[in-house]
Amino acid sequence: MSDPHNNRILPPPHVLSALHPKSLEVPCIVVIFGGAGDLSHRKLLPALYNLMVDEELPKKFAIVGFSMETLDDDAYRAFARSGIEEFSRQKLREEVWNRFAPMLHFVTGSFTEAGDYQRLRTRLEELDQAVGSAGNRVFYFAIPPGFIDRCASGLTAGGLVNPPGSDKGFTRVVVEKPIGHDLASAVEINSELARYFDESQIFRIDHYLGKETVENLMVLRFANAIFEPIWSARYIDHVQITVAEQEGVGTRAAYYDKAGALRDMVQSHLLQVLCMIASEPPRSIHPDAVRDSKLDVIRSLRPYEPSDIDRVAVRGQYEEGLCGGEKARGYLSEEHIRPDSKIETFVALKCYIENWRWAGVPFYLRTGKRLPKRASEIAIYFKHVPRVLYNSRPAPALSPNMLLIRIQPDEGLALNIISKVPGQTLRLNPVNVDFHYKTASPEAYETLLSDVIVGDQTLFMRRDTVEAAWRFVQVILDVWDQSGADPFPYAAGSWGPTESALLIARDGRAWRSL
Ligand code: BG6
Repeated sequence: MSDPHNNRILPPPHVLSALHPKSLEVPCIVVIFGGAGDLSHRKLLPALYNLMVDEELPKKFAIVGFSMETLDDDAYRAFARSGIEEFSRQKLREEVWNRFAPMLHFVTGSFTEAGDYQRLRTRLEELDQAVGSAGNRVFYFAIPPGFIDRCASGLTAGGLVNPPGSDKGFTRVVVEKPIGHDLASAVEINSELARYFDESQIFRIDHYLGKETVENLMVLRFANAIFEPIWSARYIDHVQITVAEQEGVGTRAAYYDKAGALRDMVQSHLLQVLCMIASEPPRSIHPDAVRDSKLDVIRSLRPYEPSDIDRVAVRGQYEEGLCGGEKARGYLSEEHIRPDSKIETFVALKCYIENWRWAGVPFYLRTGKRLPKRASEIAIYFKHVPRVLYNSRPAPALSPNMLLIRIQPDEGLALNIISKVPGQTLRLNPVNVDFHYKTASPEAYETLLSDVIVGDQTLFMRRDTVEAAWRFVQVILDVWDQSGADPFPYAAGSWGPTESALLIARDGRAWRSL
């Protein structure tokens, strides 16, 4: 096959599809532990429905909700329908729903009783017969981490787990982030999982890796010739990663007030995004090759000393304020939050990757709740041009080039370049070359569920990477836990505490205004 523009040989489409078989061709049953819970309602069932709309759901397929609630199949279908009506990316269409609904089933179970697993097994075997799912199972643990061990051992004791390569069908498990609460508990959960499953069967979800723009980072970097030569300390001055949320703690207070922004967002989402920007070109697009190069980034992060923390990390907690035009209460007045909670709802961090590519380039990370808007982006700031020619006058210096990668909303890219203002006098101005994706990208959970079904682990976190990420943030957690100090306050609707601006200002830089 040749490319009409330059006659180069392209890999035939079947080579690509052999690397990534279509989920349509993989029969299986997805069993959702916690099937009647919030994640299922808002994300998983709508994502599966969207895969059906896009003709990406296997033809031989069933979904089984498994949890404590006493629901029958019809009640579960009604539950799924209301989730889809409220949260689906694409509107519910009766014709699609009529094909989707019969795939939904429910089994009531407590996760602890052997008898529950027997009933689950019987039901799955009946469904195998009815739909032809060939014994292939995905067990999705949409449950608190404390239950994982019980569920994994229950499945194993119930004869529901086949080893990799078994001719009785594949077994895969999906585990939600956060994996643990700190390094020790992450190691414990991973060890429990490893007791029952092979690493090739474990899919640890960080939904940021399923976001279209995050996935596209590799393509941007390695399918274009123009970026890689300038992607290093030689040309890049610093990088800013921002994940801003306008919402407060919402309905997840019980979880959040134990976690906080460092565990909830930085340890997983922000570090994963950092890896995608900073990794070396992987040796191939094989899942482990990609994950090896990401692991190298985390392992190259300069470890913090406890004495560094005050200079490199800022934590904040929102107070009452005006957010999105509405009055928002402070974190401590939110329902189910401890009145003396020291949990941070904002984090700003500076880190360095100590390898040849990035030596000396600071990476600034910030994330928080109740910030002025919802916006996730990566800003790559290039170095100043030499102070000659157009940049020769001391002031004002030309602003350096900046490549902006918008993860959400309004996914796209912008490149800030200097240009001449048309006219007789020589005036220079920054202009934006702006590209918006403007297509309806699939939701992260659609991409990730489809990857689990086909068994592609590229976008899932491997055990070593998760533990390396915990190891990196652990020193900050320890210092904050031991300090007894309060997080810095910031008004809801502001960009975090003043100390966050100072963290970057000390280096003569400023956060990008969004
Ligand atoms: C989750 C966090 O992982 O990501 C939440 O637990 C956060 O606290 C959410 O709100 C943000 O995801 P998104 O896709 O809305 O940016």
